[in-house]
Amino acid sequence: MSIDWLEDWAPTDGAERAASVFRTRFDTEPEGTWSAPGRVNLIGEHTDYNGGLCLPIALPHRTYAAVRRRDDDLVRLVSAQEPTGLRTLDLADVAPGAVDGWVGYVVGVAWALRQAGHAIGGFDVAIDSCVPYGAGLSSSAALEASVAVALDAVFGLGLEGSDEGRTTLAALCVRAENEIAGAPTGGMDQAAALRAREGDALLLDCLDGSVRHVPFDLAAHDLALLVVDTRAEHALVDGQYAARRAACEAAAATLGVETLREINSDPRGLEWALDKLDDEDQVRRVRHVVTEIDRVTWFVALLDAGEVSLIGTLMNQSHASLRDDYEVSCRELDLVVDTARAAGALGARMTGGGFGGSAIALVAADEVDRVAHAVADAFADAGLRAPGFLVATASAPAS
Ligand code: GLA
Repeated sequence: MSIDWLEDWAPTDGAERAASVFRTRFDTEPEGTWSAPGRVNLIGEHTDYNGGLCLPIALPHRTYAAVRRRDDDLVRLVSAQEPTGLRTLDLADVAPGAVDGWVGYVVGVAWALRQAGHAIGGFDVAIDSCVPYGAGLSSSAALEASVAVALDAVFGLGLEGSDEGRTTLAALCVRAENEIAGAPTGGMDQAAALRAREGDALLLDCLDGSVRHVPFDLAAHDLALLVVDTRAEHALVDGQYAARRAACEAAAATLGVETLREINSDPRGLEWALDKLDDEDQVRRVRHVVTEIDRVTWFVALLDAGEVSLIGTLMNQSHASLRDDYEVSCRELDLVVDTARAAGALGARMTGGGFGGSAIALVAADEVDRVAHAVADAFADAGLRAPGFLVATASAPAS
């Protein structure tokens, strides 16, 4: 069986692709091309909106935006992924509930910048991307962040140059996603796209937005991170994500804490919190969140100590917790995880929001092909669509 490898583009190729779409559509040169990566989260799932810790890396797969500013308030958009045509919107018409689809992520960023008082006018933009779409690898945050750094440059905001400015851009991308695109997500994906560093995992503390860059070089340990896009499409995803978030907020209110993160440092401990909750679903959701935050701390401690092969155990525990307590896995994700482990992976887990999307497996560098084939065969045997594969290395942020 042949393996479907999801290739990334060399940055110069990606930029040229977007610029070429721009030239063809708008009959002029863009002012420049900006890009931002997708991400894969190593551990710390469904913790970001609970004030917790997470540990994503930026992918080599990026979204490219070729942009030219305009003298009016119109935005004209074209995407190589949607060859049907050119869309035109007036920035004055952008408001919560007014824009559907991928266009909302682009104009949503302009809207959020304007809401924050930045002088943003109209622009022409052409998009091309090699971030797998709908794979749980944050193609939407990559799109938002590529547009954010583009608008920062063409409107001279000067935010991209510092981590503080990038934090501001990330927060505005979250606003665009929550309010214009209508997805109630936390802030992990946008932080990864804008604040990660090549070679490092991004330890993000969602309580105060602080970060630590943790060296993450699996090749130095003869290991690799295999990412499997299950290509599973599940209905009700948005509703399920919002329901998990609501359950966490309700539990926090019952416990009298601002965020569930407080339970991690409460001397009365997790058992006290679980005893106080009557709702069985909330008990399981809280147990996942609190134990997952602890796993991030241990994962980072293992990386710091150079005990990299041991992180697989924490990945396995994270998957069990997401499957059994948080209930966001699915048949396809479980199949990747079980098959990869049976084929020799040191650990495996679903990554991202769940209900489909991608899983990751920690494998010996010389066993990547073997594990990928085992997973592809298992999907074929189960009558499932062939999955996509990539090997993730910690890559560069938006630029
Ligand atoms: C999605 C969201 C993130 C985060 C993850 C789960 O990717 O966009 O904010 O909540 O799910 O960890």
